[in-house]
Amino acid sequence: MALPPEFMEDLRSRVTLSDIIGKRVKLIRKGNRMNGLCPFHREKSPSFYVNDTDGFYHCFGCGVHGDAISFLREQEGLDFMEAVRQLADQAGMAVPQTTPIDPERTRQRQQAMDILEAGTRFYQSSLKTDAGKTAAHYLQSRGLTEDIIRQFRLGYAPRSGLKASLEQKSFSPNAMKTAGLIGESDRDGSLYDYFRDRVMFPIENRQGKIIAFGARALGDAQPKYLNSPEGPTFSKKAVLYGWNQARERVRRGLPLLLVEGYMDVIAVTASDVAAALAPLGTALTEQQIQLVWKLHDEPILCFDGDAAGQKAAFRAIERIFPLLEPGKSVRIAVLPEGQDPDDILKSDGPDGLTRVVSAANSLIDAAWRFVASGFTLSEPGARAAFWGELRGLVRTIAHNQTRQAFSDEIEFRIRQMRATTRTADASGFQQLQSVRRPRPATGSEKRYGVLLSLLLHHPHTVNDRFEALSMLNFGTNEFEDMKNALLDRVIRDPDLDAPALKHHLETLGYSETISVISTGDIRARLTTAPEDMSPPVAEARIDEIIALASQRSRRG
Ligand code: UTP
Ligand code: MN
Repeated sequence: MALPPEFMEDLRSRVTLSDIIGKRVKLIRKGNRMNGLCPFHREKSPSFYVNDTDGFYHCFGCGVHGDAISFLREQEGLDFMEAVRQLADQAGMAVPQTTPIDPERTRQRQQAMDILEAGTRFYQSSLKTDAGKTAAHYLQSRGLTEDIIRQFRLGYAPRSGLKASLEQKSFSPNAMKTAGLIGESDRDGSLYDYFRDRVMFPIENRQGKIIAFGARALGDAQPKYLNSPEGPTFSKKAVLYGWNQARERVRRGLPLLLVEGYMDVIAVTASDVAAALAPLGTALTEQQIQLVWKLHDEPILCFDGDAAGQKAAFRAIERIFPLLEPGKSVRIAVLPEGQDPDDILKSDGPDGLTRVVSAANSLIDAAWRFVASGFTLSEPGARAAFWGELRGLVRTIAHNQTRQAFSDEIEFRIRQMRATTRTADASGFQQLQSVRRPRPATGSEKRYGVLLSLLLHHPHTVNDRFEALSMLNFGTNEFEDMKNALLDRVIRDPDLDAPALKHHLETLGYSETISVISTGDIRARLTTAPEDMSPPVAEARIDEIIALASQRSRRG
């Protein structure tokens, strides 16, 4: 659908870029350019410039660059032709006729969308009828308000009735089938409503048009969720549920979560502490990752803490690495086993979700840990294999500088690991000679050992120091691992007391580390036993060690 170049030139020269961008961004004139806060990334001081003379914008912060058309595409989610039409409208120009690639397909698509819109209205009104009572109660029982039901246009598909309603609007049976709302029986060719006795979740495209449905069974009917079949309006690999609600919230500065289910998107959105999107019952595709990055530079991917969730998380990491670009990344949140964000909101409220957000790992930390979990790192051969796999993962990054930066970081961490395991090996050697006398700990190890034992006996101190503690590297693997396990646990369950925390860490295999920090040199550094210390004394001691350690740690 090529447009004549003369027309494009004319269009570009007639629109004033700052008028278009000025609707979204507060611009201040600076010389012959306009300056403001970049709408493509979050920043506090303006590094976004608009040049009306040449018709382009540029951000010195995140490097985005483009013209009026790219601005409308990226910020309004319009496609090329839609952006052109909008600009032409503003400039009072007529868009020359173009030959669409396939007029029949375009017509089919449009008609399918009309049917899907009519279907949405039908389902919405059915929720208010007698037949829809069970569904309405169900939504209520899941804590959804009238307002959120309206925002997401939720509805109810009765056992029958849609077909008749669409026939009344003179849609043809074929068109209804194309839209995926009517099925045809293999046996006798009779037509039936595709969705029956289900709660309906309309799926919108980025322009807010309905393109498909997700539908949840009310009872034990299978499958629990049924999606529209793929069709001219709908390719599930290219769509994320909740786009328009999420866009509005991300613009307000909320973090963006990627979750698994429809109900998670809705519950997170309703909590108003984060925005949320979900794929439609499949793992995140490459296309969806690229899409998410249009909305947020660093979305948080949420995964269940169970084995399947861990696997899914690692597959997502492998899919994301090749796509990494400057300024684009993800964080990874591992949720308590068996809980989705909706469950967390139900049990712990918005604070629970906020904790999940703040406990999310950086991509590199998550990748390190996931890869490490596949190896027995006490064995040299396994360590070598671990490093090999990490390096392999980093090599998949297509963008040169990004790959270089990740490679530097990985090599730095590997060097650190080698330095600390060498001392650990030495201790193994010494233990062979004299099993009873542990290797004397170094000064910094003792310091972290003391810190760990204080935290272990005073878990309530963790919350206010979470950031600082997670930034500190506790040196040896066993200390660093136990610190992470401890933080992880306390953040999930802030009311945990010391005995419960100790028990939890023991079940995770940290008994030996706990005994190391509770005896000998490390214990001797404290005049009072940590368990006998009053909370304020323990806190003061903890802060003192954090301050000292942060000063010394070169990476802060
Ligand atoms: P879950 O089974 O985890 O359900 O499926 P859920 O989202 O927690 O739903 P509720 O809370 O019981 O209502 C997660 C997602 O996987 C897809 C859906 O997108 C669902 O939201 N799914 C699940 C299907 O596509 N089909 C199914 O049969 C089940
Ligand atoms: Mn759920």
